[in-house]
Amino acid sequence: MLKVILVASGKGGTGKTSFTAGTGAALSQLGHRVLLIDGDCGLRNLDIVLGMSDRVVYSFADVAGGAVPLADATARHPVFESLSLLTAPVALPALSERGMDQLAVQAEEAGYDYLLLDGPAGLPAELSWLAHIATQAVVVTTPDSACIRGAERAARTLEEEYCIARIRMVLNRVRPQLIRHGMANNVDDAMDEAGLSLLGLIPEDEDLIACGNSGKSILSMKKNGAACAFRNIARRLEGERVPLMKL
Ligand SMILES: Nc1ncnc2c1ncn2[C@@H]1O[C@H](COP(=O)(O)OP(=O)(O)OP(=O)(O)O)[C@@H](O)[C@H]1O
Ligand SMILES: [Mg+2]
Repeated sequence: MLKVILVASGKGGTGKTSFTAGTGAALSQLGHRVLLIDGDCGLRNLDIVLGMSDRVVYSFADVAGGAVPLADATARHPVFESLSLLTAPVALPALSERGMDQLAVQAEEAGYDYLLLDGPAGLPAELSWLAHIATQAVVVTTPDSACIRGAERAARTLEEEYCIARIRMVLNRVRPQLIRHGMANNVDDAMDEAGLSLLGLIPEDEDLIACGNSGKSILSMKKNGAACAFRNIARRLEGERVPLMKL
């Protein structure tokens, strides 16, 4: 059955797009069929991070609006064959819940196992179209207190307004040295403050920045810390018990 996961945050720039690209690639390496949707209308950049800017023609609004069938609108990743992308429209479109439902039905019928929705920062109105089809959500936050407060608020809205029952947190850009010196929240503090269970930790990783700029997948690096984190997260999404990585 298709799992539709909304990737959200309170504050901007927490790593949602990096998470979507990395986890999508890791799930596809596990043999799953994965469709990524850039849900950040106007500010789209998932195609850049995936190195697929020259491949995208249609947006998810073209599919949800009934203009193009899903099968004709998706672009396949150049390296990961079972990973596809549907980009965001340049301007905010008029959508309907029915149109979004049709999109999800087409994804299910096409045999996708996962649909990852790279959401906009915060809680803009257009989030409701993505939340409408999501069966679960991942809130990405850094360990900064202000960012965690934003994550808590975003999660509460997703639960109360959009009725998403399963919401987990990913702690990104974790810097163990700061935690050791008491200068950053540790994992327990972050979970307490956000009131969310933890899906995974992603370390601060310069390679992730370089990969995002060049469109190369971090998953092509075997021993990289962030790549290892995305592999662990993919296995946890599959229900496996994977211990937290030692940082
Ligand atoms: N673990 C990490 N280590 C180092 N840099 C990171 C990490 N995660 C994300 N970044 C960098 O932080 C910046 C923002 O990341 P990203 O675009 O994924 O965030 P976002 O939440 O999607 O932002 P927005 O809210 O604007 O959509 C990028 O330059 C990215 O390379
Ligand atoms: Mg983004």
